[in-house]
Amino acid sequence: MSNYHIKHLEEYYKIYRKSVREPEVFWEKIAEENFTWYKKWDNVLEWDFKKPEVKWYQGAKLNITENCIDRHLSTKGNKTAILFEPNNPGEETQHITYNQLHERVNRFANVLKNEGLKKGDRVCIYLPMIPDLAVSVLACARIGAIHSVVFAGFSATALSTRINDSDCKIVITSDGSYRGNKTIDLKKIVDEALNDCAGVNSVLVAKRINSEVTMKEGRDKWLQPLLNNASSECEPEVMDAEDPLFILYTSGSTGKPKGMVHTTAGYMVYTAYTFKNVFNYKDDDIYWCTADIGWITGHSYIVYGPLTNGATTVMFEGVPSYPDYGRFWEIVEKHKITQFYTAPTAIRALAKEHLDYTTKHDLSSLKVLGSVGEPINEEAWHWYNDHIGKKKSPIVDTWWQTETGGILISPLPNITPTIPTYASLPLPGIQPCLMDEKGKEIIENQIDGRLCIKYPWPSIARTIWGNHQRYKETYFSAYKNKYFTGDGAMRNTIGYYRITGRVDDVIIVSGHNLGTAPIEDVINEHPAVAESAIVGFPHDVKGNALYGYVILKETGDENSFDKLRKEINQMITEHIGPIAKLNKIQFTPGLPKTRSGKIMRRILRKIAANETDNLGDTSTLLNPEIVQEIIDNSL
Ligand code: WT7
Repeated sequence: MSNYHIKHLEEYYKIYRKSVREPEVFWEKIAEENFTWYKKWDNVLEWDFKKPEVKWYQGAKLNITENCIDRHLSTKGNKTAILFEPNNPGEETQHITYNQLHERVNRFANVLKNEGLKKGDRVCIYLPMIPDLAVSVLACARIGAIHSVVFAGFSATALSTRINDSDCKIVITSDGSYRGNKTIDLKKIVDEALNDCAGVNSVLVAKRINSEVTMKEGRDKWLQPLLNNASSECEPEVMDAEDPLFILYTSGSTGKPKGMVHTTAGYMVYTAYTFKNVFNYKDDDIYWCTADIGWITGHSYIVYGPLTNGATTVMFEGVPSYPDYGRFWEIVEKHKITQFYTAPTAIRALAKEHLDYTTKHDLSSLKVLGSVGEPINEEAWHWYNDHIGKKKSPIVDTWWQTETGGILISPLPNITPTIPTYASLPLPGIQPCLMDEKGKEIIENQIDGRLCIKYPWPSIARTIWGNHQRYKETYFSAYKNKYFTGDGAMRNTIGYYRITGRVDDVIIVSGHNLGTAPIEDVINEHPAVAESAIVGFPHDVKGNALYGYVILKETGDENSFDKLRKEINQMITEHIGPIAKLNKIQFTPGLPKTRSGKIMRRILRKIAANETDNLGDTSTLLNPEIVQEIIDNSL
């Protein structure tokens, strides 16, 4: 896998220009030289952003697990593929070699086959960060089943919505999970979710915390005995390049979550290529991404990208604060981590703690630091650079999305000079542009615009499961012939991109995408609530926190407000998950609305952020008098 390693800046520019001039030649060569194909493609790319339709490597036959595992066995069979670091530092680290991973994935794949699963069937995976999670993902890919991993912090309602949307036949879960000094009964959450999921006829349960669980006759089975009895050989299913590999749900600004569909060949080529170059991955490196496999970061840069490169990838079950705030750095020292990839919210949380937590650990193994999920503010960037990288490890501020499958804009370590808060340059093959509100491309620099991509790249999501129309409307309708990201950005005079944040009603809280509408829907179900509006406001650790404006049906008395606040957050926790809880809830008799009845969120955002000096134009409001009242009572 060394045929695509970029080594210096001039080479980057040269490759970039070529990738734009002849994208198909560029992506064909990478695919040809670095992967195992059962059959090569007939056509590198077919696309039409109007339909929209994108197809890469059509006609090719492959299996991604052959590329992640089998082809490494002759040279790297005894190398650690997955290094599992448990929640409790007293519990032993597990080193799963490529040989062992091969056996475990094959057994798991046979268990799935024995359950009657076939190519194209959907499998819901609701597991904590234990090796079974990575193994089950790969086992699905082995037999061509489509995995839909649901982050194990989501509630029963969120889980059942996702199971039903993609019609999963089977759920893979565990008795429970460890999270710092707490345990969570995952199986109970699954049981509750399945009350609403008629299509699920089988639940496989891994044992992790040895808690008491109820097993439903005929439906629920312990995983381990099935694995023990399954054969350790399972031929990989021969997949077409464009067969779906997985579905992963992401929040939209309105409506139910969107099941983004990623397909096989393009996703494999792009995640492998970007992993190698963005992290400057070398053979003996020990790479650690702290994300959960329940998010796209974990899919692409814990599982698929590292394993296609034959890397050692760390899976960490715990949290950065347990048993104390030195846990990340203790792990970096213990395993001599070379690449460390995390989110700005984690950096900000750790930067608040005493420096001793970092200085007492030897961090000299680190070569590259990564950041992902939200804009990294200058202060956090410098803390990361000074205290973790000791000014010798470049920071790669990687911009991408669930929909993009892989990193699109990022510095290359030791190649691209970094500037704090700039994600910097597009990777080869990526053609970004900025658009103004009238739909014209912004050619000048230093002007804020909306970030679009002009040309397809191999790992772009192909559709929204069951709703291609929504895919078209969300991503390909705002600007003609362009993929619209939903993000605002500007470009400086040397062509670096700086992402300024979402321009739609999606709010990123601690690196998690949250749509405002689904949260408002939950609040509005409270019997006392008439209407509500959620906005984000700056928060020093979470990046953004949520501020809710709530209109009650009957003017409540102030004494009941605290109880109502608790009830509202309880409902949000049950229906979405604790990550969507509101930090502040203000009860108000009205909301600022335009004459067409649209809530003017811009004003609510300013009030929540305490920036009431310049509220902009309020003349189009139906009820301008409400603004002062909201300001007077703001929290
Ligand atoms: C949104 C996508 C991609 C993996 C994690 C998030 C924001 C992501 C950055 C960055 C500024 C960023 C964008 C994007 N975002 N990375 N480096 N700088 N903003 O995936 O949940 O699909 O969220 O995260 O707003 O649109 P996601």
